[in-house]
Amino acid sequence: MKRKYAIHLSILIAALIGGGPAAADAKRDEAMRGLAIKSGCFICHAIELDAKGPEGLKPVGPPWKAIAARYKGQPHAVKTLTAAVMGGTSPYNRHWQDEASGVAMPPNGVAISAGDAKKLVDWILGLDK
Ligand code: HEC
Repeated sequence: MKRKYAIHLSILIAALIGGGPAAADAKRDEAMRGLAIKSGCFICHAIELDAKGPEGLKPVGPPWKAIAARYKGQPHAVKTLTAAVMGGTSPYNRHWQDEASGVAMPPNGVAISAGDAKKLVDWILGLDK
């Protein structure tokens, strides 16, 4: 009898820890961070606005929360930013001139697939919450 109760309790705890929308969000966060690490994004980018790069400079690329804030609600953001991630950006048309120390993003198509890049961009755009 006692043992049965313990089993029920452990199922209840597992359901509480493993379920719900918060858990799904946490899982997605973890997967997307892992993808960003694996793809080399964090060599240049940070997530938080006040992150510092080497020697106290701004990071090479803009913080992802700033990207989320700037492009929030723009209908073509996912598409254009995925293209920027895959193909790189132009140093002659800098979008983050005073907010990043790098002059351009190199193409990341060698490190990430277009499908994964789109997933990552979609997640980045939701970071402004
Ligand atoms: C070698 C450094 C570097 C790496 C690696 C890098 N980025 Fe960037 N990224 C930059 C720089 C620099 C900019 C700012 C370009 C500009 O000012 O126009 C940028 C801009 C961006 C932007 C905004 C583009 C725009 O037009 O505003 C997104 C989104 C982005 N990066 C995502 C990523 C993702 C996702 C990865 C990993 C797959 C990644 N970056 C890897 C340096 C990098």
